[in-house]
Amino acid sequence: MFFLAPSILSADFSKLGEEVLLVEQSGLQMLHIDVMDGRFVPSISIGLPVIESIRDKSHLIFDVHLMIEEPEQYIHDFAAAGADIITIHAEACRHLHRTIFQIKEEGKKCCVALNPATPLNVLDYLYDDLDMVLIMTVNPGFGGQDYIPAMTEKIHQMRMNFEQRELSTDIEVDGGIRKDNVQNVLHAGANVIVAGSSVFDAGKTEKNIREYKNLFASFEAEEKNGK
Ligand code: DX5
Ligand code: ZN
Repeated sequence: MFFLAPSILSADFSKLGEEVLLVEQSGLQMLHIDVMDGRFVPSISIGLPVIESIRDKSHLIFDVHLMIEEPEQYIHDFAAAGADIITIHAEACRHLHRTIFQIKEEGKKCCVALNPATPLNVLDYLYDDLDMVLIMTVNPGFGGQDYIPAMTEKIHQMRMNFEQRELSTDIEVDGGIRKDNVQNVLHAGANVIVAGSSVFDAGKTEKNIREYKNLFASFEAEEKNGK
């Protein structure tokens, strides 16, 4: 299953409710929510009260990307605020396995994110415990950065590692994804695509989502025809 998950970091926060509604009305299922603490990453973004307030207005799957230190301290709070998927960074967790199980105990889907420089082997003993892996395709912290080309091979390797273990775990990519490179990451094996600045754009958001959907559809058609 393929998902486009617009990142609200690039939305117009003065009308966030409308922006979220637009995503839902465009027929998408997932919303990517970036939480930054000014420590794990240089920026500070949004937190629990914002998630709570949009939760009431949306049926979208909330994919909450925690770019924060010591995320184990906040798992319960983000689950209670309305997260459906909680993503933690491997680099921010001293006891990654324990934090994964904390998320599961809250009844939420668990995703581990890897920064561009973090090797895949940090997940070697965790494969069976993951609902999704997030391959960062930029260094986290800001929207609108350029895709790091070396990440295509990393995504491909991740997909092969899952296939070898007969797992169809979701692979999410985040950062620098645009309409002219999304096919590359789909071909490499990603199936959950985060896009911020290439989706949210005053007056053009619906058109952008439509164009992404068309690109997904042509990729799926190609796959079906075995190209
Ligand atoms: C970056 C965030 C992203 C960001 C992506 O640290 O995790 O989700 O919003 O923005 P674009 O798609 O503009 O690179
Ligand atoms: Zn993100």
